Amino acid sequence: MDRINLRKTVKYSGILLLLISFSLVIVWSFFIEPKLIMVRNVSIDIPHWNKEHKNLKIVLLTDFHIGFGHMSRKNLAKIIERTNSYNPDIVLLLGDYVNLSAQNQKYLPFLVDFKKLRSKYGVFAIMGNHESWEVRNKIRYFIKQAGIKLLENRAEKITIDEKSFWIAGIDDLTTGYPDLEKTMSQIRDAQSPVLFLSHNPDIFEQVSSRVSLTLTGHTHGGQIYVPFLVRLMTPSRFGRRFLKGHVVQNNRHIFISSGLGTTIIPARFLVPPEIVILELE
Ligand SMILES: [Fe+2]
Repeated sequence: MDRINLRKTVKYSGILLLLISFSLVIVWSFFIEPKLIMVRNVSIDIPHWNKEHKNLKIVLLTDFHIGFGHMSRKNLAKIIERTNSYNPDIVLLLGDYVNLSAQNQKYLPFLVDFKKLRSKYGVFAIMGNHESWEVRNKIRYFIKQAGIKLLENRAEKITIDEKSFWIAGIDDLTTGYPDLEKTMSQIRDAQSPVLFLSHNPDIFEQVSSRVSLTLTGHTHGGQIYVPFLVRLMTPSRFGRRFLKGHVVQNNRHIFISSGLGTTIIPARFLVPPEIVILELE
């Protein structure tokens, strides 16, 4: 082979390799990764948690976006079945149940499927930004039908083995009516630990140290992550600070789940959907 032909062969092989790699990434991120649900076991040492509640299994499910991409009723059923297989003590649903659009309103009755969730001490839910004004009443109705406690600027006290903690949930920051003061004023004792639920992590800067742990979703962990190049979603005033995982700031703790579904683009890359099983100590 002469030098010109060799150069051409190298050039075309390179282009072919790039095309193949690009196609594989597309297939992976649109058709494989969004369905690869990871179970993430997370153990966090937080201030004031009751030692009696050390082994409680708290499951976080968030950002389903039913009706968008791969999130069908069948996939929702798989998520519920998988969650039940871990025998959760408490299940927390952190919002964005149906991907918001006029035609997706037909999926709202699927929320009743959450009735199949098995949780020893209850299932609690908050509203996300996709539960916007126009569908709120329907969401409330179906969540109630599913036997789930909806925390809209509300706190509930949970007592297990004679020790208590609070679960407080605030309404969504962007399309709801969040009232932090009202939510926190319902916590009527000074010692029981507080788990604070907010769909959007941006509330964290205002959350008092009375809260042991803030639990959120919303960011999808970026959803599409190409190292050093792209993160599709960073829907936060604080950029990447609260993108995903456990973050500690001035001895205050927040955990942000990457969630289960997709929005904007029906793809995930290097941020697989997750069911989070939380154990606190
Ligand atoms: Fe979301």
